[in-house]
Amino acid sequence: MKVSRMGLGALCAAVALIAGCGGGSGDGLDANGRPVGEGDDPSGPMTASFNSIQSHVFTPVCTACHSGSAAPRGLRLDAANSFALLVNTPSGGVPSLMRVKPGDADNSYLVQKLEGHAAVGARMPLGGPYLDANTMTLIRLWINNGAQK
Ligand code: HEC
Repeated sequence: MKVSRMGLGALCAAVALIAGCGGGSGDGLDANGRPVGEGDDPSGPMTASFNSIQSHVFTPVCTACHSGSAAPRGLRLDAANSFALLVNTPSGGVPSLMRVKPGDADNSYLVQKLEGHAAVGARMPLGGPYLDANTMTLIRLWINNGAQK
């Protein structure tokens, strides 16, 4: 989902009156050229950044199973562990595939699991409901843009 910079600015101005917007005063841009921190708020729109995927998907949807010492395949998807256990880390199901291969969403096991065409196991999140097309587009974009933190 794309929000125009102007529209976002207006939104931030409105939100800033109440709670501040993005929690920072910097004008930094992330790997996708979007303002740093945009999309992190789980109640707002998701963007193609790691923190936004974490707050919109991994934390609310996946940690129900993927957390703690009993996490399936050792894959913990809480904010403290997810990046290191995903990016450039071999999958348990198909060890020749990285869970997230920067620049290559098609060959990232995470994407194959979420789209339901991995060679091993079930589609994620196990039992559904599955992620919508817009969410998958953003996760793919994050990976294809280099899967930066
Ligand atoms: C209801 C429990 C449950 C939920 C919720 C769940 N998973 Fe899983 N997940 C599993 C189980 C069990 C496995 C191991 C079996 C398999 O690979 O299908 C697994 C395996 C995986 C794997 C393969 C890991 C590897 O290295 O082989 C990935 C990637 C994954 N899940 C991602 C996710 C993501 C992302 C979400 C949230 C969108 C999610 N899962 C939600 C239970 C769950």
